[in-house]
Amino acid sequence: MLTLAIVKPDALQAGRAGSILAHLEADGFAVCGVKMVRLTEVEARAFYEVHRERPFFDSLVSFMTSGPCIPVALERDDAVDRLRTVIGATDPAEAAEGTVRKLFAESKERNAIHASDSPENAAREIAFFFSEAEIRRNRG
Ligand code: CMP
Repeated sequence: MLTLAIVKPDALQAGRAGSILAHLEADGFAVCGVKMVRLTEVEARAFYEVHRERPFFDSLVSFMTSGPCIPVALERDDAVDRLRTVIGATDPAEAAEGTVRKLFAESKERNAIHASDSPENAAREIAFFFSEAEIRRNRG
């Protein structure tokens, strides 16, 4: 199955994008689609629409539009749940040892990586960034 990760602007700026993708590949994820984008404010607000009433929403949109990010479509057994385990808690201070956020995140907002939280959202979020022709499935 597929899920979506986004290497966020903080991680890209810090030169951690390659390390993060290597970490995910070492855990058995296959990269099926990847691109670098600079989200517009309209795009960031649409992507995070579910959080629009949250007090951190404007700050989150500002952060996510502050520089380029790297959406990645990833394939693995149990991809959605496994990616959320591998990236760790939203707040790096609470993330388990060895998780992407423990290793690479700066703060609860600047937390290095996004992961889809359900199969339905994974499908929506992959379609947000990729056309079908841009996804190459490597496994059956
Ligand atoms: P993400 O997994 O991309 O989903 C929503 C994002 O909002 C989250 O990662 C963080 O970047 C950000 N976020 C969530 N909670 C907070 C918070 N309490 N304060 C600031 N940013 C937050």
